[in-house]
Amino acid sequence: MKAIVPGPTYAEMLNPRDPAPHAAGEMDPANLFRITWRGPDRQVRHVALPKELTGTEANIIVLAGRCFPSGSHKVGPAYATLLEGELAGEIEPGVHRVIGPSTGNFGIGVAYIALLKGYAATVIMPDGMSKERYQRIRQYGGELDLTPGTESDVILVLERTEHYKKDPHSKVLAQFELLPNYRFHRYVTGRSALEAAERHGNGRVAAFVSAPGSAGTLAAGDEIKARFPEAVICALEPTECPTLFNNGRGTHRIEGIGDKMVTLIHNVLTTDCVQLVHDDDCVMGLELIQRQPRLLERILGLAEGRLAGLQDLLGISGLCNILGAIRLARSLGLGPEDNVVTVATDGFDRYPSVLEDLVRRQGPLEEGTLTGWFESLFRDGKPPKILDVRPLDQKQRLFGYKKDVWAGFGYSAAYLERMQSQSFWDAEYERVEEIDRTLLRQRQAAR
Ligand SMILES: Cc1ncc(COP(=O)(O)O)c(C=O)c1O
Repeated sequence: MKAIVPGPTYAEMLNPRDPAPHAAGEMDPANLFRITWRGPDRQVRHVALPKELTGTEANIIVLAGRCFPSGSHKVGPAYATLLEGELAGEIEPGVHRVIGPSTGNFGIGVAYIALLKGYAATVIMPDGMSKERYQRIRQYGGELDLTPGTESDVILVLERTEHYKKDPHSKVLAQFELLPNYRFHRYVTGRSALEAAERHGNGRVAAFVSAPGSAGTLAAGDEIKARFPEAVICALEPTECPTLFNNGRGTHRIEGIGDKMVTLIHNVLTTDCVQLVHDDDCVMGLELIQRQPRLLERILGLAEGRLAGLQDLLGISGLCNILGAIRLARSLGLGPEDNVVTVATDGFDRYPSVLEDLVRRQGPLEEGTLTGWFESLFRDGKPPKILDVRPLDQKQRLFGYKKDVWAGFGYSAAYLERMQSQSFWDAEYERVEEIDRTLLRQRQAAR
């Protein structure tokens, strides 16, 4: 058997001994120990958006996912799922190929982690995603198995995945189904988000906003709610694909989110509300912040360079999260002491082709057009479309949707029933310590 390449525990991802270990290039396994929200200064990497931009008094705090190895925080769940499979003796280097069902970033993370840990990888994803995603996967040596469609056709990816589940030499890192994704985000992202908020306003979290794909990131909300039970946890969806909102389905342009289902690992008990955001608002918002910062600074009366901190930091779903966070803060009437935390899953490097496409669709972008976009995205006084999903009938609707999808993939009624209780999620979360102990023992034995 090939030796297992060691990586960090959950506790080390939250608090690495050295957040910037020496690595001889991107492909050095030492980078496994850089899977963390922290930068070299040990602080959780985040920005508090300028209030001139957001137009709200509340602090909008954005955690920066692009600084993770491979360029998005989705590498965290990819690593955690592979790690737990190795610890359970289900995945062995030299024996298994790892399979990453994805719409891109998780697949990039799987290809990258597989490379560092010595596995072959296949990423199953739709054929209509941004071309930068396929390039990255190939660059990391991953093979592609493409299914027809885009973000909203993830169900085809899941169906293709079933075929690999039957192959004894393949192991599927099933982000929509497996709980390491939940554990990574509740423990590592949730605690990092709480820590980032300590530096702003009253140090608490009034709301956490995330647009779910797998709904892994939303699990950070469970940790935030455990500390601040009054915090509002808001899931965002594209207006064009309002699945959690009203069982609606449609195609949309926000890559990584809005996958037309309630994922198995989504703890719907802690989701308080669902808000809709138009997909093109996010693409236009990215154009403004990434490519028109000087114009924005002029509109906002800011000194040149004030928005420089946002350069390259955001992708389309990041814009979705930001617009959702601003609108939620406004509708909750939050003030200068209140913190709304959200994430930017990846950065601009994955989207130049999407902005080129925007220009193709819209024609040359005149100053008047861009100013109009700014007004409608950031200063629109209309109430956002927010649905309260705390009432029992809403929870039952969401549980029902989940059952419809996942019973079809072989999950038992008893298991799906157990997921309707918070104790299921807390017990899964508590496994973090035992998993860490097992990994430390394995690392010790390998010395
Ligand atoms: C760009 C982007 N944004 C958001 C998400 C959603 O994150 P999660 O799967 O944790 O819900 C993803 C997931 O792949 C993504 O790639």
